[in-house]
Amino acid sequence: MGNVKDGSEYPSLARIPAHVGMIMDGNGRWARQRNLPRLAGHRAGMEALRIILRAAAEFGIPIVTLYAFSTENWKRPQHEVQGLMQLLGESLDKEVAKLHENGAQIRCIGDLSPLPDELQRKIHDAEELTRNNSGLLVNLALNYGGRQEIVKAVREIVALGVPPEEITADLISRHLYTSDLPDPDLIIRTSGEFRTSNFLLWQSAYAEFYISPVYWPDFGKKELYQALVEFGRRERRYGGLTDSTE
Ligand code: FPP
Repeated sequence: MGNVKDGSEYPSLARIPAHVGMIMDGNGRWARQRNLPRLAGHRAGMEALRIILRAAAEFGIPIVTLYAFSTENWKRPQHEVQGLMQLLGESLDKEVAKLHENGAQIRCIGDLSPLPDELQRKIHDAEELTRNNSGLLVNLALNYGGRQEIVKAVREIVALGVPPEEITADLISRHLYTSDLPDPDLIIRTSGEFRTSNFLLWQSAYAEFYISPVYWPDFGKKELYQALVEFGRRERRYGGLTDSTE
């Protein structure tokens, strides 16, 4: 099946994941390699993200969840945190109209309440503008942490007075930020680190992990394609003996 528009450059893929999570790591090291400030790395990272979103849509990936800012990232120097927030605001200003034109839907997961008010407004406006779009779903994890998300779910369930015997994995899933989304099939992490860093902890139970040695700002369409080729080769057994996706 030809999932790729420019098939001559990128031959068709065996299988397209329904949901890809991306841990966009290595912006700081990319900058350091070039004697640039860390924020220059994040800027380059944002540029890479633009290219990856276009490529994801072209490859026919329906959903991407991007780890943009974790609950632990507040520990970074204040000027880096502020710089990241500013970069996100500027990028929303610049990119939302274009994403909307291309049919993308923008959503955020995480606790947005500590983010600057203006940024929260921009996020809300982007979500509202694109909420009925049916193209690529761009899910931005902002002030997101997997443990914090599970704690939130448990608190909600307890507050509802659900009896212990009625607490199931499915019920917990329905109280996560991703309640209406399929679990990620593939999680890509750049910069050669083999860690989940608190990203989609519950949802990644059966995800395939793909670690790229490349720093995020250098992760482009070719690298995404390689990850998808590798995903197509993996045999997924979900704890059973055969590939239950077939
Ligand atoms: C990890 O690189 C990257 C981040 C903490 C933020 C990801 C941000 C972008 C891709 C830019 C877009 C910004 C937002 C907020 C959407 P790192 O700084 O941990 O790199 P290092 O491990 O090499 O220091």
